[in-house]
Amino acid sequence: MSGGPSVAICPGSFDPLTNGHVDLVLRSAALFDRVVVTVMVNTGKRTLFTIDERVGLARTVFGSQASIEVDAFDGLLVDYARRRGARAIVRGLRSGIDLEYERPMVLMNRRMAPGVDTVFLLPGPEVAHISSTLVREIVQLGGDAGPFVPAVVLDRWRAKLEGR
Ligand code: PNS
Repeated sequence: MSGGPSVAICPGSFDPLTNGHVDLVLRSAALFDRVVVTVMVNTGKRTLFTIDERVGLARTVFGSQASIEVDAFDGLLVDYARRRGARAIVRGLRSGIDLEYERPMVLMNRRMAPGVDTVFLLPGPEVAHISSTLVREIVQLGGDAGPFVPAVVLDRWRAKLEGR
């Protein structure tokens, strides 16, 4: 095992970045020397925010943290992780349903890249219920996403809805 700094990738769609993601990334930053928040393409999902918007919002949120970097990648997660010299992929687990969603990806990724493993972290209780999908639905139906996402995400979302 290399003696260099420990690098972890926090991959996801981040459509949009929620307070749950922020909790996960900060927990990861407490465990690893360097954390790369990587906005990925999930081929199974249509997105609301563009990749550039999602990267820009994450950079605004994490900009003040020297050990956290934000990047985007359109390809295989394990290729990206290897390229970055990452030892770990970090994912959040809210429930057993999340675990069943993650399980095949973890095993496929491990098979493709035995040197990179996936680490799961549980969210803090105040954000454990948040999902981007539900937050998007709440906003689509006229609800307030304020308790669930960082303020910059809410501002950008309002601007988008107003066509700005
Ligand atoms: O936030 P999400 O949508 O749950 O994140 C899923 C994501 C983006 C991590 C996953 O779809 C992914 O790793 N996509 C990159 C393409 C890839 O590596 N696919 C093979 C997975 S075994």
